[in-house]
Amino acid sequence: MRIILFGPPGAGKGTQAALLRDHYKLSHLSTGDLFRAAIKAQSDVGMLAQSYMNKGELVPDEVVWGIAQLGMEKVGFDNFILDGFPRTVVQSEQLSHFLKGRGEAEPIVITLEVGADSLVQRLSRRRSDAETGQVYHLDYNPPPADIPAERLIQRPDDHPDQIRRRLAVYEEETAPVKTYYQQRGAVIEIDGMGDMDVVFGRITEALDAL
Ligand code: AP5
Repeated sequence: MRIILFGPPGAGKGTQAALLRDHYKLSHLSTGDLFRAAIKAQSDVGMLAQSYMNKGELVPDEVVWGIAQLGMEKVGFDNFILDGFPRTVVQSEQLSHFLKGRGEAEPIVITLEVGADSLVQRLSRRRSDAETGQVYHLDYNPPPADIPAERLIQRPDDHPDQIRRRLAVYEEETAPVKTYYQQRGAVIEIDGMGDMDVVFGRITEALDAL
């Protein structure tokens, strides 16, 4: 099974990808996570990506393609979830061309539909554990009480100005990706509002029915 998990910042792509990975035994490929690992390692790609990410802008397509292609080759082509990629029509075309060249079918595209107010609420209250990388939400998925407060970090792009910019960039540059795939085949729209396990149930129900 090959899945593209698509949706605006804060829609729950990372949360649902982790659940789907475990449920269907898939590899989870998040370009955002790959860039954050590159930033941590202070690599050239990481430093370049950081200058865009911290402003809420997209990393240039050619840089994204390099890291995404390497990631896909590493995990293989049979069972993966792409999270946060493709995020522009150019990236979608690159992916289609690449998969076609290898004789692979287009992935199933699942879109998570969440209202703008909820996106802001989810992003502004997200925290992650600096040691384990586990993602929490201060209200909807609170961290265990024994994790020291200083270990819970907020992403630099989860501050109000950056959130506003990311949502605007999504509308301008990323939303057209949905139309791209609607014109090519299966796009499954999932209501992303409600508890995480309820959203997960909607996704698995739709996938199991295919
Ligand atoms: P990336 O890391 O991909 O971020 P994003 O797409 O903005 O998405 P998020 O990770 O913020 O949100 P999510 O949808 O995964 O939500 P989550 O599950 O965490 O990209 C970051 C940056 O990297 C980009 O801005 C760009 O600069 C660069 N980049 C990455 N890929 C790129 C590409 N292909 N091209 C160009 N640039 C690229 O959930 C959010 C919060 O809500 C959490 O706290 C969670 O606990 C909570 N939550 C989740 N589900 C629910 C629910 N059902 N109810 C209540 N709370 C929930």
